[in-house]
Amino acid sequence: TDHPAADRYVAAIDQGTTSSRCIVFDADGGIVAVAQREHRQIFPRPGWVEHDAEEIWTNVEQVVRDALATAEVTTGQLAAVGITNQRETTVVWDRATGRPVHHAIVWQDTRTGPLLRRLDAEYGEQRFRDRTGLPLATYFAGPKLRWLLDNVDGLRDRAERGEVLFGTMDSWLIWKLTGRHVTDVTNASRTLLMNLRTLDWDPELRDALGVPAAMLPEIRSSAEVYGTGTGALAGVPVASALGDQQAALFGQTCFHPGEAKCTYGTGSFLLLNTGESPVVSRHGLLSTVGYRIGNEPATYALEGAIAVTGSLVQWLRDNLGLISSASEIEELARTVEDNGGCYVVPAFSGLFAPHWRSDARGVIAGLTGYVTRGHLARAVLEATAWQTREVVDAMNADSDVALRRLRVDGGMTANGLLMQFLADVLDVPVVRPAVSETTCLGAAYAAGLAVGFWPDLATLRAQWRADAQWEPAMEPAHRDRELRHWRKAVARTLDWVD
Ligand code: G3P
Repeated sequence: TDHPAADRYVAAIDQGTTSSRCIVFDADGGIVAVAQREHRQIFPRPGWVEHDAEEIWTNVEQVVRDALATAEVTTGQLAAVGITNQRETTVVWDRATGRPVHHAIVWQDTRTGPLLRRLDAEYGEQRFRDRTGLPLATYFAGPKLRWLLDNVDGLRDRAERGEVLFGTMDSWLIWKLTGRHVTDVTNASRTLLMNLRTLDWDPELRDALGVPAAMLPEIRSSAEVYGTGTGALAGVPVASALGDQQAALFGQTCFHPGEAKCTYGTGSFLLLNTGESPVVSRHGLLSTVGYRIGNEPATYALEGAIAVTGSLVQWLRDNLGLISSASEIEELARTVEDNGGCYVVPAFSGLFAPHWRSDARGVIAGLTGYVTRGHLARAVLEATAWQTREVVDAMNADSDVALRRLRVDGGMTANGLLMQFLADVLDVPVVRPAVSETTCLGAAYAAGLAVGFWPDLATLRAQWRADAQWEPAMEPAHRDRELRHWRKAVARTLDWVD
């Protein structure tokens, strides 16, 4: 085109659990403009969570327009757009009309519990674990798709005739933008349907889950041109897709085996780069694809997935009304010295890593008449750190080398009280990068690599800068006592659901 390189940009769309964002980046990886819109959380029954995929698509179009307008960047100045997304959330839509056949079933939704118990009895969890790197848990997309096939009238027949299509949010958006029905390896690795070694759909698992082949997208790499955008992105190459946690790993430039990051959003997800072959966890972590750039070999990761962290703060705000904005929690927690003996275990979607107990439900433990809203606020923040500690312990047990420092990002890392407590309970330094929007940055990096906007990983690596670091300062005896209490509280969440 007629624009010099300095006048060109890469955009990223982050379709997250609570909102959709678009960020425009310059050639140094600096942020030029951000736009964001929240969508509805639909809770039809306890344990069920849905999104309206049409509403999400409308929001995505709007944030793209808003971000480009704020940046004063035209589509002609965009070298590429990348996509990153909440993972596992499942959409089925009509190929002809483009309309979803049902609300999307969100990753946090636990309705597939009974189905998973049947699959376990019939096929055994190990068969799924060996091929996909995942336990049989309500978290993943395949069982959600099966639920739709079983519960939406006539859907199975239409799926077999190829009239309806399945996708996670990446597929849905790429299809809306380009008309292509594809997904990337990182998103496909969260379905319980993809073989982690062949990086293709596994016919036996597909049969076990009862999913017609005709409705599945083609699995592609995370960085290549899938098609050309329309509408607000007319003519722009759509050139990357990564699940949001893998995108954050990429945006934190954790390109070498042994490098790890944890992103603190709705939930929190710690990913460790394990190199070119998948590592099987013996301690409740997931094996997953980290990223795959074009035709290069895939890079794998071990993942500790925590379902509820930031969403617990939102619950304190929206359901209990103890604060009026999420950022107020830090001030409230600072009104007290400690947790007052109180622990909150937010097993709202059962417990994820390292427990994988769909039958768990949340508890507030250790209550006495002494406990105030300040103590509750503190216990809510501490829950995020202790859940990270459980995942780090599993990761250290799974790999030969202990984690020596943790790169963090995401909204909750603005909370200094939490970051200090995290360093204290992990007993390692916690480091936050200058560009904390690592999810979007990772998607932009992958898209930019695909179209040659950035030449190689080393260039991206050189752009990473730390902006804050917290050092551990807690007395070991105090830490041990608190960990013991946390574990007792966790034990009280189990066996709740009949
Ligand atoms: O696996 C779920 C994860 O991708 C959701 O991330 O940031 O939308 O909570 P987030």
